[in-house]
Amino acid sequence: MLPPGIEVYKQILDHLSTAVLMTDEQLRVTFMNPAAEMLLAVSRNRAMGQHLRDVFFDVIGDDAMAAIQQTLSTAHPFTKREAHLRVGVHEVSVDYTVAALLSPGMPPSLLMEMQQIDRLLRISREEAILANHQATRHLVRGVAHEIKNPLGGIRGAAQLLAKALPDSNLTEYTAIIIDEADRLRNLADRMLGPRKLPHLQAVNIHECLERIRSLVLVEAEGEINIVRDYDLSLPELRADPDQLIQAILNITGNALQALREHPNQTLPPMITLRTRAQRQFTIGSIRHRIVMRIDIIDNGPGIPSSLVERIFYPMVSGRASGTGLGLSIAQDIIHQYHGLIECDSRPGQTVFSIYLPLENGHDGR
Ligand SMILES: Nc1ncnc2c1ncn2[C@@H]1O[C@H](COP(=O)(O)OP(=O)(O)O)[C@@H](O)[C@H]1O
Ligand SMILES: [Mg+2]
Repeated sequence: MLPPGIEVYKQILDHLSTAVLMTDEQLRVTFMNPAAEMLLAVSRNRAMGQHLRDVFFDVIGDDAMAAIQQTLSTAHPFTKREAHLRVGVHEVSVDYTVAALLSPGMPPSLLMEMQQIDRLLRISREEAILANHQATRHLVRGVAHEIKNPLGGIRGAAQLLAKALPDSNLTEYTAIIIDEADRLRNLADRMLGPRKLPHLQAVNIHECLERIRSLVLVEAEGEINIVRDYDLSLPELRADPDQLIQAILNITGNALQALREHPNQTLPPMITLRTRAQRQFTIGSIRHRIVMRIDIIDNGPGIPSSLVERIFYPMVSGRASGTGLGLSIAQDIIHQYHGLIECDSRPGQTVFSIYLPLENGHDGR
């Protein structure tokens, strides 16, 4: 039961994520909720009494005003999908519905509901990106297999040759063949990525992060500070801890390399490992009530803008000696757990965020 009183309805309107706007018969604005103020970028006080066309510009709908006006006389509500509204210098995509409120004894008025759909478009783009990564990973794995197969033969033949050579000086050459074959096999192994079946168990993410922290600290030889910012109330995950460590270590290792190669000019080099619970998060097409977020933050140079769109693709590297596999493998692992990795980078602050669904935490499609 709702407690009585108009205050309650006002509160409901204030908290709706749908933008709600009302006008009188002359299409003069009589009401806007905060979502409408945000969407149309105009304050309620300024909009009040203005004509609808002064706050609502449907870019391609020349006849939008006429159609809206007509609703008042016909009382037929209508919905327009993927309309483009001009808001300041930007355009936003919205679905909007217009209905007439005709109650006896009350002046007729018009009710508009608007819902922004850019966020939905972004989600489907994310899905497309994920599918793209999967396809590329598949390709890379295929190539790695093809490289590995003949390598065993080449290496074995070089070993036999070394034994049969009359002049021991010549084994220098067979040694080169063997070394290079080994190098190539290592690369192919990395291209293949994790191959053993995951060993699922209850994992405390903070134990994984502590392992990573000590590994990276050793490698950093005391040059870098690693700060922990953990939410210790997070529940355990069901995962293979070795895989999670590998994924997070690939990201943290990149941060370490970036900090070493281009140290921050003013601040001491620092990596932060942060864990949080994040509510209402959509991955692919699934909306999760709660996910775990792991942020790996560094104060290094940032990712060059020419690279940032492509860093999750295999074989994309900004470093001369890089293989460009680290992030692609990390994305692959996290994807196995129906999670997502995002990146936000500018000079002085690069944040990689890993989102992992917590069990029973999703509401379905
Ligand atoms: N924290 C970071 N700061 C700056 N650049 C980064 C960071 N993380 C990744 N990168 C860039 O992304 C590229 C791809 O990373 P990765 O897939 O691990 O391949 P690799 O480390 O072999 O180059 C790196 O070469 C680097 O240019
Ligand atoms: Mg790397």
